[in-house]
Amino acid sequence: MPATRIAPSILAADFARLGEEVRNVVAAGADWIHFDVMDNHFVPNLTMGPMICEAIRPYSTVPIDVHLMVEPVDAIIPQFAKAGAHIISFHPEASRHPDRSLALIKEHGCKAGLVFSPATPLNWLDYVMDKLDVVLLMSVNPGFGGQHFIPATLDKLAQVRQKIDAWRDNGGQDIALEVDGGVKVDNIAAIRAAGADTFVAGSAIFGQADYKAVIAAMRSEIVK
Ligand code: DX5
Ligand code: ZN
Repeated sequence: MPATRIAPSILAADFARLGEEVRNVVAAGADWIHFDVMDNHFVPNLTMGPMICEAIRPYSTVPIDVHLMVEPVDAIIPQFAKAGAHIISFHPEASRHPDRSLALIKEHGCKAGLVFSPATPLNWLDYVMDKLDVVLLMSVNPGFGGQHFIPATLDKLAQVRQKIDAWRDNGGQDIALEVDGGVKVDNIAAIRAAGADTFVAGSAIFGQADYKAVIAAMRSEIVK
């Protein structure tokens, strides 16, 4: 399995001090900055667009991991690439042609990912494995931070781990396996054991005063 990564979701940060929050969480040990984009259409909430991605870019020395919860997806992909996104992931049911959207992300020089909501079937993975850098598995329904981890995700996670390992064992590229939603210090070890290598956490990190202590506690749980 590849190295593990902690990706704080700035959805839970103080938006009035966003640049400073990004700088602080990177200094505290974040490996990626997770950036949640919601459109009040695909999900019932409205958050940040490419302008904010561009504005925070100078405050981060680590990759910006853009999670698109928008429909449609294609028009916004070049804008996020231009705004400094490193990884762009989208929900396949929000794209008319997921293969084309993945290719578009790559053409714009970014890493590409597919996102699975809790009830979204994994067969969207068939036929596009060669274009994936990331599989982002949601362990809550998309739209809001601070929700509870859905336990059925652990089985699904193990299934994706198997698919990724089989793909790599047959000569395919490695694909990061990222989990998003309800990740806390007390469940991260189980999520790691089920096969995740990248962990998004919003409220668990930004809800505490000492970001470094939480990230260190999470890391110690996943390297045990
Ligand atoms: C939910 C977002 C998540 C969210 C996670 O739609 O995709 O990234 O910020 O927040 P927590 O860690 O609080 O569940
Ligand atoms: Zn997210």
